[in-house]
Amino acid sequence: MNIRHCFLSAPVYGLILFSLLYVPKLESATDPGRSRATLYKEYCLVCHGDKGDGNGFAAKFLDPKPRDFTSGKYKIRSTTSLPTDDDINRVITKGIPGTLMPAFKQDLDEQEISSLVAHIKDFTDAFDGETPEPITIPNPPPKTEELLAMGERLYVDGGCGTCHGQSGKGDGPSAETLQDEWGYSIRPYDFTIPGRMKGGSTVSDVYRSFVVGIGGTPMPAYGEIFTEEENWALAYYALSLSDSDDDGDDWGEDDDDWGEESSETVERDSNIGRDLVMGVKPFENGGPPCMGCHSVMGEKAIASGGGPWGPDLTIAHQKFKEYGLSIFLETIPFPTMGPLYHPRPLTEEERGHVLAFLISMQQPDEVQVVTAKVLSHYTLTILIGLLGVVLLTLTGLIAGKKNMELK
Ligand code: HEC
Ligand code: HEC
Ligand code: HEC
Repeated sequence: MNIRHCFLSAPVYGLILFSLLYVPKLESATDPGRSRATLYKEYCLVCHGDKGDGNGFAAKFLDPKPRDFTSGKYKIRSTTSLPTDDDINRVITKGIPGTLMPAFKQDLDEQEISSLVAHIKDFTDAFDGETPEPITIPNPPPKTEELLAMGERLYVDGGCGTCHGQSGKGDGPSAETLQDEWGYSIRPYDFTIPGRMKGGSTVSDVYRSFVVGIGGTPMPAYGEIFTEEENWALAYYALSLSDSDDDGDDWGEDDDDWGEESSETVERDSNIGRDLVMGVKPFENGGPPCMGCHSVMGEKAIASGGGPWGPDLTIAHQKFKEYGLSIFLETIPFPTMGPLYHPRPLTEEERGHVLAFLISMQQPDEVQVVTAKVLSHYTLTILIGLLGVVLLTLTGLIAGKKNMELK
């Protein structure tokens, strides 16, 4: 087919297509309503799966895997059995450091988080008739040289090094072979990394994690094996293996803030997002424009034919929801896109703008306006941009192929 003809006529087809597809839908403005099932779908499903079994779409790209809520097993708990509501609440609010379990405190309010706690507990009957009680954690004694020396001795004698390694780097003799109860291999914590413990990184947190263990993993519950003083000694010693001075003492205080600040604070502009996606505005780190491979609204619509290599992005938001998409843009877990974008990641601002654009695809009226604008103002820029897109994509594809062959 004649390419020039294609470029010129596509906007016209596009406009016709849009009006056919979207004008009738203008009425049906969506209000998602935030029931707990809806919240779960919007924010959790992409990883934890429809059935709560940890088999969401993104699961195959993650390590550790998202929790399987149907198993009734939890890692982080202040009890010797099941987690309390507060324990689960805290995980959802603050996330799990060192994993892709996000902190939701910016996205959800307290009530929404509580309703999600109830929702995920319903995936199993393990909680039926149970009221798990937290262990009591005494006040920590002051950190002294004697206590640290005692901790060091107990660390060796107590066999922590078999898994965590003598220097605490998580490289003990059994480290390679450990598996969790969900059947995945698991690494012991590396104590030389400060502040990333799942159960919290204050001395009281370590005391707790150590006494009750990390559920579903080989990390034992030491319970009453050691005296209280010895427990504190081990907790202080474990923390001293990193150079962090973090020995505050309250689980739930805000200063052990794990997550990075959310992108909510950055202003998102769907117009900038559109320009980035189309290649009208280049990505700061040199990533190729999305339209090099993807189309938006069907092949014949926006920007006279996006690339045929990737799926159409129009329903990306519907498919992955906002949270899934924002994680997607941050991690780019796909085999074709990953090699292109990992060395040239989108900046936080760019992710925000692109996200806003992909979301706007779900609001037909906005799309109409956006599209009309694009078609009238940008046709020429897009044509020029497209040439760049094709070039960049070709080089990118070659590089991507090479990367893949290397693996
Ligand atoms: C981007 C993927 C992702 C999303 C989205 C996500 N999670 Fe997770 N979640 C994880 C991963 C990965 C783990 C397991 C971490 C580990 O094993 O250390 C996890 C673990 C958990 C745990 C288990 C904690 C424990 O003690 O075992 C809870 C509870 C949880 N998530 C709740 C939620 C809820 C509720 C949502 C939605 C509001 C959500 N998650 C969204 C990835 C995700
Ligand atoms: C059989 C192997 C094994 C032994 C022995 C062991 N651990 Fe662990 N430990 C683990 C694993 C595995 C993890 C990581 C769990 C995870 O990431 O989900 C862990 C995690 C931890 C954590 C971090 C918890 C968190 O919140 O992330 C602490 C603290 C800890 N261990 C302390 C100790 C101490 C102190 C000893 C010795 C008294 C010890 N462990 C002995 C396997 C072991
Ligand atoms: C080199 C071509 C290429 C470029 C450039 C590219 N993608 Fe992709 N994308 C793909 C392919 C191919 C897939 C399908 C999964 C795979 O095979 O990796 C995909 C999948 C996706 C998906 C999942 C869609 C679905 O329905 O499953 C989203 C969302 C996405 N890309 C967004 C983007 C965004 C946003 C950009 C620009 C920042 C972009 N892509 C740039 C090739 C590309």
